[in-house]
Amino acid sequence: DGLNARSVAGATKYLGTAIKIKVMADSDANTLATNFDDFGAITPENEMKFPALEPARGVFNYTAADIIVAQAQASGQILRCHNLVWHANNPPWLLKGGFDNATLISILRNHITNVVGHYKGKCYAWDVVNEALNDDGSLRTNTSIWYSTIGPAYIPIAFAAAAEADPAAKLYYNDYSCEKNNAKAKAVRNLIGTIRAYGAPIHGVGLQAHLTTGQVANSSVLASNLQAFADLDVEVAYTELDLSTPADNPNLAQQAADYATVVSACKLVPKCVGVSLWGFTDKYTWINNSLPLPWSADYTQKPAYTSIADTW
Ligand code: XIL
Repeated sequence: DGLNARSVAGATKYLGTAIKIKVMADSDANTLATNFDDFGAITPENEMKFPALEPARGVFNYTAADIIVAQAQASGQILRCHNLVWHANNPPWLLKGGFDNATLISILRNHITNVVGHYKGKCYAWDVVNEALNDDGSLRTNTSIWYSTIGPAYIPIAFAAAAEADPAAKLYYNDYSCEKNNAKAKAVRNLIGTIRAYGAPIHGVGLQAHLTTGQVANSSVLASNLQAFADLDVEVAYTELDLSTPADNPNLAQQAADYATVVSACKLVPKCVGVSLWGFTDKYTWINNSLPLPWSADYTQKPAYTSIADTW
């Protein structure tokens, strides 16, 4: 029995992972990443981000992302495509700025039309807008190149452009620190209304779930927050789950329990479609000095592996 519930007949929820080219180049790691019994969904960790796909204005490079897409398809895995619009991780040509409102809107639309069009029919979901909110629920303003020039309309403009380019993809808003019902979660619910008021569709909310071992709310608290989104007629998913624990003093039993708590919350909510991990082996985690994932750096299964598999 693996991690991916979809590998069991009749089950619909997926357990997925992010991967990156560097992980694919490591054959021991890639053998784990392509196993459908463990992973039913793949998210490219960096290869679909703005600077990777449009390194110069109007110049698109799909080489690395296409390699990930082809491998996922060959492995029977659905794709969570990530991401189209983010305040962070933008290319120098874009950050240099100096674009007026109309020009930046056309850059935004052109990026989305090209990228979503290139992957049309291949992405189960797109994270259209990533991390637009501050933790207090206000929109990121001066820290976002998009907001600074376009204002709050950049968000519905992005969803509308994505819907036009691939009408079948599920379009998500994705953010962190809104796994519990706090000011930010409330702001995400309001944002759904704002996007729709503009006439654009939104189909899903992704909760990143970069969480800390020993500091996770119980599964009914997590589930009721998921349900509050679902009540607005969107699906929900945990999109980037990892549970940091210090490398010099890890609490692997608590980590295993916390993984089970998050997976249980998804299981409790019919509109929760799945859980994606942000990597799977501690060898390639993005978090420094931490052991946040279900496989150790030498590819042995940690207690978290068994607890996730048993929870579905
Ligand atoms: C991270 C990647 O894991 C790193 O390799 C990269 O250097 C920075 O981005 N929220 C997100 C992800 O939506 O795209 C981020 O991924 C982690 C936080």
